[in-house]
Amino acid sequence: MEETSNDFSKIDKILEKHQFRKNNLIQILLDFQDEYNWLPKNILFYAGTKLGIPLARIYGAATFYKFFNLEPMGKYKILVCEGTACHIRGSVNLLQRVSNILKIEPGDTTNDYMFSFETVNCLGCCALGPVMYFNNKYYSNPSTGQLEKLFSSVS
Ligand code: FES
Repeated sequence: MEETSNDFSKIDKILEKHQFRKNNLIQILLDFQDEYNWLPKNILFYAGTKLGIPLARIYGAATFYKFFNLEPMGKYKILVCEGTACHIRGSVNLLQRVSNILKIEPGDTTNDYMFSFETVNCLGCCALGPVMYFNNKYYSNPSTGQLEKLFSSVS
């Protein structure tokens, strides 16, 4: 999973959609990421050639914005809040439960690329703390059993 295939037809479609506009670089990168879940180097190189943008500039944009992934990500992202409100209410234990089940630490992705596990500073629903966001839903302090059920429901 280090690189994608060299079939660039999807990339060409995205570039055509943006009419090969250099000024649309961020939107183009967002579309690439929607397609691949991360920004593979061979795709950035190909797009840079087509757009006439040096790879260094593309990397500059991709590393500036935190929402771009330059490493392969899991199909599902698990966000556990470790903001102050959630910390006081036990986010450390929730982080540990998720780590124990998936056998990865925050910042890691499972070997099968199903799950990426990250921490955030606030999910905007502090009263529910400690909070986890997974598969488009918020969960308030899910138990080990609930977490196992949730993760196995998508794998
Ligand atoms: S501090 Fe956790 S949701 Fe706000």
